[in-house]
Amino acid sequence: MQELTDAQALKALIDWQAELGADLPLGDVPVDRYAAVVPARAMPSPSAVSAAAGFAGAGQGEPDPVAEARAMAAAAADLAALRAAMEAFSHCDLKLGASQLVFADGRPGARVMILGEAPGRDEDLQGKPFVGRAGQLLDRMLAAIGLDRRADDPGRGVYISNLVPWRPPQNRTPAPEEIAMLVPFARRHVELAAPEVLVLMGNVACQGMLGQKGITRLRGVWDDRPGRPCLPMFHPAYLLRNPGAKREAWADLLALKARLDAR
Ligand code: URA
Repeated sequence: MQELTDAQALKALIDWQAELGADLPLGDVPVDRYAAVVPARAMPSPSAVSAAAGFAGAGQGEPDPVAEARAMAAAAADLAALRAAMEAFSHCDLKLGASQLVFADGRPGARVMILGEAPGRDEDLQGKPFVGRAGQLLDRMLAAIGLDRRADDPGRGVYISNLVPWRPPQNRTPAPEEIAMLVPFARRHVELAAPEVLVLMGNVACQGMLGQKGITRLRGVWDDRPGRPCLPMFHPAYLLRNPGAKREAWADLLALKARLDAR
């Protein structure tokens, strides 16, 4: 068998790492995470918060990530505290592969809140939701009905977040158990941002907030289970792959505008 040159061997190693999802350098020098000392947290540990709130673990001293997420989310009195609680949450392994938490963008207190799925590569780099190609399409969709995430006026502004705040490796769909432990934070996020109307972009947002998938059936039908009117819509990334579905997305945007105009 022919021997690989050093350059070929290095390239094969890099390709292999990219296939595993390590496609983004986080620093200039390698870090041995197994040798790194875990620093003490300034925030109370999730289990301390959970115990204080009276939640039992999953059994036999096992942590219960969903119960801990609920306790931590409920204890957050404002958006800054919620963000800190999410930074301190240690049960979601997606955090280990992401470069940072992607919390939100836009105008808190805006009439409309958009909830998407999870950050992709651009969002992970910039620390803001919906800044890549799908985000640019989302901005154009919102502009078509007079909304703008940069607007300071709550009537025209939009608040944008995701159900999952850390980029999944290779942009894979978040697993059900990951969604389950992040839902309490997303619910609290909606409560604290207090929009009049919530737009759920795609299946993961619907699964988390409504407990249902099947966006083709759900889209365009108003629901009020998350405690306020919410409208499931096709995800902009789906619209990029399926431009024919923009017709339905346009109908949903008009329904959103009509709802806002009627209030
Ligand atoms: N897709 C999402 O659901 N959210 C983002 O932030 C980017 C792409």
